[in-house]
Parts: sequence; C-alpha cells; structure tokens
Amino acid sequence: MSKDWNFNTRAVHLEQTPDEKTRVVSEPIVPAVAYSFKDADEAAAVVSGEMEGVYYGRYGNPTTRTLEKKIAALEGAEDALGVSSGMAAISIALLAFLKHGDHVIVTKDVYGGTHKFLTNFAVRYGIEAEFVDCTDVDAIEKAILPNTKAIYIETPSNPGLCLIDIEAVSNISRAHGLPLIIDNTFMTPCLQTPLDLGADVVIHSATKYLNGHGDAIAGFVCADQEMIQRMHKDFMGDLGQPLNAWESFLILRGIKTLGIRVEKHCENAQKVAEFLENHPLVEQVYYPGLASHPQHALAKRQMRGMGGIVSFEIKGGVEEGKKFISLLELAMISFSLGDPETLVQHPASMTHSSIPEDELKFFGISKGLIRLSVGLEDAVDIIADIEQALIKLPVKV
Ligand SMILES: Cc1ncc(COP(=O)(O)O)c(C=O)c1O
Repeated sequence: MSKDWNFNTRAVHLEQTPDEKTRVVSEPIVPAVAYSFKDADEAAAVVSGEMEGVYYGRYGNPTTRTLEKKIAALEGAEDALGVSSGMAAISIALLAFLKHGDHVIVTKDVYGGTHKFLTNFAVRYGIEAEFVDCTDVDAIEKAILPNTKAIYIETPSNPGLCLIDIEAVSNISRAHGLPLIIDNTFMTPCLQTPLDLGADVVIHSATKYLNGHGDAIAGFVCADQEMIQRMHKDFMGDLGQPLNAWESFLILRGIKTLGIRVEKHCENAQKVAEFLENHPLVEQVYYPGLASHPQHALAKRQMRGMGGIVSFEIKGGVEEGKKFISLLELAMISFSLGDPETLVQHPASMTHSSIPEDELKFFGISKGLIRLSVGLEDAVDIIADIEQALIKLPVKV
C-alpha cells in the first residue's frame, strides 16, 4: 500500500483488500464469538499476543480488527483498540495509566462525561484529577506533582471551542516523562493528527464524525503496540467492553467518506459562524475559523480545517437561548454531534448538566451557550433556519 496516498485515498483503501475466499470488496461482517486453531501452539501464540489473531469475542473481532488497523494508520499510530463507546475508550486509557494514589492533570473544559467519570467514578478508586487551564503551559507545569501520572486534554474543547497548543503541552509532558492523552473526536485524523505533534495516546468517540451517520456507538484508543496490548487484555477484555462486528462495519463504511464529509462540515460551519457573528441578536460566537477567535493563528498552525462545531451566545441569556433552540425547524435538539443532520443543544442543561452550576463558569460554559453541530445540508438552508428562529425571539436590539 502506498504511503504517499492522500487522506481520501487512504481512508478508502488502507488496510482493506478483497476477502481472499469470497473476493468481496466491502468488509465482511463476522459475528462469531469462537475461533479455532490448527494446534495448541497456535492457540497459545494468539492468546499471548505473539501471533496476530482473534480468539474470543470479548477480546476482539476480525471486522473490528480491520477497523482498528485503519484508524491506527490514519492517526499514524502503531496500533489501535476498538471499544464499545467513546467513554469506554476514555475510561480504559485513563485507567491504564492511573492507579490508587495517582494524580492526573486534565484540561478544565473537558467533555462532560469525562469530567463525571473522573469526579464520580475514578475518585472512588483513589485517583485524583486536577482540572487545569491547559491553554496556560506554566499552569500545567505548576500542577505537576510527584504522583502525577498523565496529562489529559481535548482540543478544540467541547463546547467552548478553546484550543490547546499540543506541541507546547507535549514538550512539558515529555520533559516530565508523562504520557499525553488527547481526545481527537472533534477533529478526526482528517483535520488533526496529535501523535505527529508529540502526543502519546489519541482517543476517539467514533460515534461522532468517524462513523458520521448517527447509527453506531464506538470508541478508539490509538497508541504504541505495547500499550494497546495492555489495554486490550487487562482493561477492555476484563471490563467486557468490546466493539461488535456490526458497529465496526458501519464505521468502516462511514470512514470511506470521512474526508468529503468533514470538508463539507467545515465549509458549512464557516458560513454559519460568519452569519452569526454579524447578527445583532448574537452576543458572541466561538469558532476557530473566525479571525476574531483568540486562537485563530494556533488553529491555522495545528489544524488542517476548523471543524463542524460552532458555539454561540444569544443576547438575553439562558431563557432566550433555550427558546431559540426550540424555535429551530431544520436543526434538531440532540445530544450528539458529527451527523449529517444539523444538531443543536444547550450544554448547561444537557451534555454538561453533571457539572455543578457554580462550576460551569470555570469550565468556560455560560448558562446561555448554545452548541451547533453543523450538518451536511445546504448552508443557505441551515442559515435560513437560524434566521427564522432569531426573528421570532422576544429580545430586541
Ligand atoms: C469530545 C467527546 N469525547 C467523548 C465523547 C463520548 O463518546 P461516546 O458517547 O461515544 O461514549 C463525546 C460525546 O459526546 C464527546 O463529545
């Protein structure tokens, strides 16, 4: 396979060749749980990881294995592990590095589910998470303790679209011998490859753009082979969080159009952000593609596109924000993102509702903030929908 291929060619072809027995071009779905071996030595080699193969459904699946290899190749990782959700990937990656008594530095405006896992679940097992403004590299350095075992970031953040300089943070993590874990869900390998910038582990909720059709839940961890093997055997298998063949097939299909979908998401999001920025009823727009975004220069340096998520605040505040999303006719109120449909949500009462109200500000979430996952419809229709909802609001300029 040519290493010189560009993204779309790689997304279609990498790790996928016609099945030798049937010559089918699209990946076969293998639902089997049990696999047989030609002799006892082969069984022992596969189970120990010395030989590539699948031995029991809780520890992997051939359709999933093709997808793992494709995602690893696109991220530039040695290997990848497919699991049952983005949260399974996040929890497995964190638990693989942390044990009782350890401390982890986490970017302050992390995904709500990750925040809940760390403050509600991990804390019960003696793991301490410290939420730090990771846009400030000095603050990260100051937060490192003798028992710090990892640094965990997300860029751009959800839903504030705040950026973190991956290379700058990786310089610190390397200097202290700490693994840097990055949730790359918003960008996908199409727009950002954190391992090239010095990160050690990349996480995905494949539920979002990687699959891209809102019909599969899955997560991936990308890292070096030794770490993936450990996560595979000691965490995914023991916790029982494998990814099944059907979801893997859907994501393999979705990834073939990842590049062209992401390009359209970015193009539409840019148009929507520019419209919102010029609307008198909109207080503030957060989108890295706008020249007004405080980290626009970093976005251009670190990302190959600005992504499909636009966050903004309506004049008036929380009630007007909630009324606005209820008035939308094309965009649907939904918790997810990265789908063909434009999806809208109110983080304070939806995705980030587990964060106490008085802490929301620290996480960069105002109570009136709205997050829009700009879909693949025609941009003029998305904008017309937003405009008709804004006109109906009682707020006047
Ligand atoms: C940035 C980010 N990471 C992780 C997740 C969790 O993914 P999943 O719902 O697949 O568990 C989400 C879900 O919204 C997310 O937005």
